[in-house]
Amino acid sequence: MSSFVKSEIERLRRAVEEHNYRYYVLDQPIISDAEYDRLMRELQQLEAAHPELYDPNSPTRRVGVPVVQTAFKSVTHREPMLSLANAFNAEEVRAWNARVHRLLGTRQEICYTVEPKIDGVAVSVRYEHGRLARGATRGDGFSGEDVSANIRTMKDLPWTLGPGAPASFEVRGEVYMNKIDFSAMNAERAQAKESLFANPRNAAAGALRQLDPRITAERHLRFWSYAASEIAGVTDQYGVLQRISRWGLPVYAGNRLVEGLAAVNDAYRDFAALRAELPFEIDGVVIKVNSLADQERLGAIGREPRWAIAYKFPPIQETTRLLDIVVQVGRTGILTPVAHLEPVAVGGVVVSRASLFNEDELARKDIRIGDWVLVQRSGDVIPYIVKTIPERRASSERIFTMPASCPDCGAVAIRLPGKVARYCTGGIQCRAQLAEAIKHFASRRAMDIQGIGIKVGELLVKNGLVHDVADLYYLKREQLMGLERFAKKRADNLLASIAGSKSRPLDRLIYALGIHEVGEQTARLLAVRFRSLDKLSRATDSELQDIPTIGPAGSESVVSFFAEQRNRAVMAKLRQCGMAMELPGGAAAAERTPLAGKTFVFTGRLASMTRPEAENLIERLGGIASSNVTRRTDYVVVGADPGSKLKLAQQLRLTTLYEAEFRKLVAN
Ligand code: IVH
Repeated sequence: MSSFVKSEIERLRRAVEEHNYRYYVLDQPIISDAEYDRLMRELQQLEAAHPELYDPNSPTRRVGVPVVQTAFKSVTHREPMLSLANAFNAEEVRAWNARVHRLLGTRQEICYTVEPKIDGVAVSVRYEHGRLARGATRGDGFSGEDVSANIRTMKDLPWTLGPGAPASFEVRGEVYMNKIDFSAMNAERAQAKESLFANPRNAAAGALRQLDPRITAERHLRFWSYAASEIAGVTDQYGVLQRISRWGLPVYAGNRLVEGLAAVNDAYRDFAALRAELPFEIDGVVIKVNSLADQERLGAIGREPRWAIAYKFPPIQETTRLLDIVVQVGRTGILTPVAHLEPVAVGGVVVSRASLFNEDELARKDIRIGDWVLVQRSGDVIPYIVKTIPERRASSERIFTMPASCPDCGAVAIRLPGKVARYCTGGIQCRAQLAEAIKHFASRRAMDIQGIGIKVGELLVKNGLVHDVADLYYLKREQLMGLERFAKKRADNLLASIAGSKSRPLDRLIYALGIHEVGEQTARLLAVRFRSLDKLSRATDSELQDIPTIGPAGSESVVSFFAEQRNRAVMAKLRQCGMAMELPGGAAAAERTPLAGKTFVFTGRLASMTRPEAENLIERLGGIASSNVTRRTDYVVVGADPGSKLKLAQQLRLTTLYEAEFRKLVAN
């Protein structure tokens, strides 16, 4: 037994040492803080139960790691920089409060400050003759590294103190990074294929120990003060914070002064609720006996003062295994890779799935199947993978690639130029998207079929009555009457409305197909330009890109839509049921007008008609009204107070028409 305990203690000491090194020296931990806390706890408990195995070099006796050889000068702290004991639940805080009462010999409620426990790096900053003289890291608690040059890059830390400040004075506080700066920095690092930081604290620690302060400056470090050396006439912690704030030091405005345990717990709950909204990361609250005299009486044991305790929040990060990556098809056809994880409790909830967002994100973060990953969940945010832990790779991990076809319907999945998402091109028949596709198809601005919304769409799909949008036109009254809440009247109304939609104008039909990148305006331009669905389905990239609102993404989207065999089958079924698929009058009618195929852009106000009226007029005459001036624009019509489009038109030497000229042209 005892030899087992001995080897277990040794194993834990080695493990904690290794993780200390990765955390404090490399700023690249490979386990979550929560896992680290558990290891440390386990070791502390075993050591407490077996005093015969005492070792002064155990990591439980020290703060951080022995100072390693660095490029920074070593600084001995005037007062050692202590650490804090942790409490992980209300019971541990209750026991701590009881001990404070016992040691102070009082039954009266005790005044405490409750401060957010900023998740950053402890730093001691010294002012001499009222000027910032030096900044040092905690190091092993007795001596740290002189990081003065880097400390000076922090915009919120004053270089000189305001009136009333003592000539020489030391302030302690936390150097931290705002969440937003952290995300931006990690995104940049992922882009550059550099290792990612697990959290803002590791990132701040890394930035603070940069040898080049210009790099530190780019990382936007910040500072919150939480303690100071003796100040004449100030007798409590809250007073210290107020005083140093008056001298210009940054002090978090939400620090609380409370009386008694119940109020401490209230403050803890308030901070927990605030946590996700704060711009910086906090991992708990620090509870401090407010009276400095009482602090003195309570003293410290080892590295931990007895007058303060860190009351930790449930962890928001955990490490776990990524078991598989599965692709989900969303209702709008976007393919999203989703991580299936070994279930792990994060922030009080068991997490077994995390969105991986898109393939670029996956590649940037180099996430592989089988990896150990760091998962984060905070507030209402969906769980996501912060980073992988390549240090823990075996060699069996597999790189994942996105499928080239939809996992649901098998249609080609494409990625449009300039877009991060991959889409299934089979929207009008893909099961995953069908209900949404039907809703869009039937919507007022598309085929305008009364009585079909998302609910009915889902009902039709669920009951196997509709496998693609064309199936709507083949529905039978008896089939509909078999559905929930469909009586004869409702079924007949729906069938009539469906039948009536067969004669909608071509542009509505094109819009209704829900082709990515094809909105109403583009659908109108396509209808005018190609005049039949058949012609549109054979359009080439370059023909499509002649349309002013269509770029490379739009043309590729249209071409792939019509290239998809399954979509062509749906078109055939639509034709079969008698759907109007051409502009009335056929191709010849409009091509004779002088405006056929010409593009117009309007800028400024016209006196004789509104903008929509003018655009309608153009389209009725076979022209194309567009909102963007490009080299391909034929006419720019200039009204009162024209905008920047006029300038652009002049630069491109396009034909501009004033209102009178425009009216003459259309009158002809
Ligand atoms: S007081 C003697 N107050 O937490 C007590 N520490 O785990 C010294 N921390 O080393 C610390 N916010 O880096 C104190 N409001 C706060 C704090 C805070 C964050 C950090 C600090 C300390 C560590 C202990």
